[in-house]
Amino acid sequence: MGAVIIGSGKALPQLEIANDELKAVVDTNDEWIRTRTGISTRHISVGESAQELAYAASCAAMGLTGDLFPQTTSTGWCAQPIDPESIDLVLYATVSPDVVVPSCAALLKRHLNLPNAVAMDLNAACTGFIYGLTTAEAMLAASNASNGGAVRNPIKRALVVGVDRLSRLTDWDDRNTCVLFGDGAGAAVLEWDAERPGLLATYLRNDDDVKNSLTCAHAIEAPQPFTESGISAEAKADPDASLAAADEMLGIGDIVAEGGIRQVIRMDGRTIFKFASNAMADAVGEVLSRAGLALDDIDCIVPHQANERIIRFAAKKLGIPEERFQLSIADTGNTSSASVPMALADAYASGRIKPGDKVIAVAFGGGLTSGAVLFEA
Ligand code: ACO
Repeated sequence: MGAVIIGSGKALPQLEIANDELKAVVDTNDEWIRTRTGISTRHISVGESAQELAYAASCAAMGLTGDLFPQTTSTGWCAQPIDPESIDLVLYATVSPDVVVPSCAALLKRHLNLPNAVAMDLNAACTGFIYGLTTAEAMLAASNASNGGAVRNPIKRALVVGVDRLSRLTDWDDRNTCVLFGDGAGAAVLEWDAERPGLLATYLRNDDDVKNSLTCAHAIEAPQPFTESGISAEAKADPDASLAAADEMLGIGDIVAEGGIRQVIRMDGRTIFKFASNAMADAVGEVLSRAGLALDDIDCIVPHQANERIIRFAAKKLGIPEERFQLSIADTGNTSSASVPMALADAYASGRIKPGDKVIAVAFGGGLTSGAVLFEA
């Protein structure tokens, strides 16, 4: 018995921006971006909210027509169309939520008409989908295995979504980061199955990012009528003093004081590159050992699509050809929480993942988070 993936889908915004088109905003070129990252184009949402992308990806994963937001392009695979009433849990991984209340997951539950689902958002940066799958599996297992403990919500099916609009968190004057990112959404449906094993092993990790090598401040900036000595209507005109404390925590105090944009992704690319290559290889090794399997047993590895060279490096470290990895980065760029579920949808839709295959999904990201899930398709 176990949590089996029975549907997988993805959605991309309509607008596609090729590498050379970025010359309109920064000094860069197609050759540099392609050779350093493997990225050729990325999709940017202008009209579409993240919610619309999440909805389209979820409909594709559930085999629904989904005509609420028709302008979004989606593709997907599912064993059979999934009854919305059968979804008991929605987990929505993102670092770029459209709204804070209600949660984006609650909005998605409303738009998909899932009357029985409980819903919540989750932020684990680019590892969000792996954290989501792991949480969903744990809730499915706790709800379905008779292992004591509390009496829980009955959960038979879970919808796990990864969606981001990194274009909203990007400094479009910074060529070191802006060429890397794109927007999109991916989704998967997990079902508790009494016969099939589904997820065989999961692994989550957090390494403290003490050097602030990957940060993005996304502070809420509603006017506050308070000072340290009390309440006053005039104080609403003052800057929120707590923002400065958050800026210091992220090491961006000087940048913001000098007029730099607060809410954008800042990254020490080389540090992240090194962390990522090692973290991916380590996470793959961990799930293999937890499942008692070897690399030769694995049919496909679906990695976070941040940089093709990181994937190549991890492949070399593991001693396997890079052809064992699903590569989807060329026309998406790094889409953070959406990256792994979109690559998974590509692997299912192309027939690369077949019933019975053993697959590892693996990711890393801000936090510094990393993790992997090993499952039988
Ligand atoms: N176009 C042209 N030249 C550029 C560009 C660009 N877009 N960006 C940087 N350069 C220049 C640099 O200025 C530098 O020039 P200099 O030597 O004259 O100073 C030169 O290219 C080399 O720069 P490096 O930083 O050494 O390039 P590197 O080979 O390390 O690649 C990259 C940079 C692609 C960012 C790489 O470090 C990387 O992929 N890091 C990991 C990023 C990542 O995976 N992040 C994931 C987390 S992000 C998230 O989750 C939201």
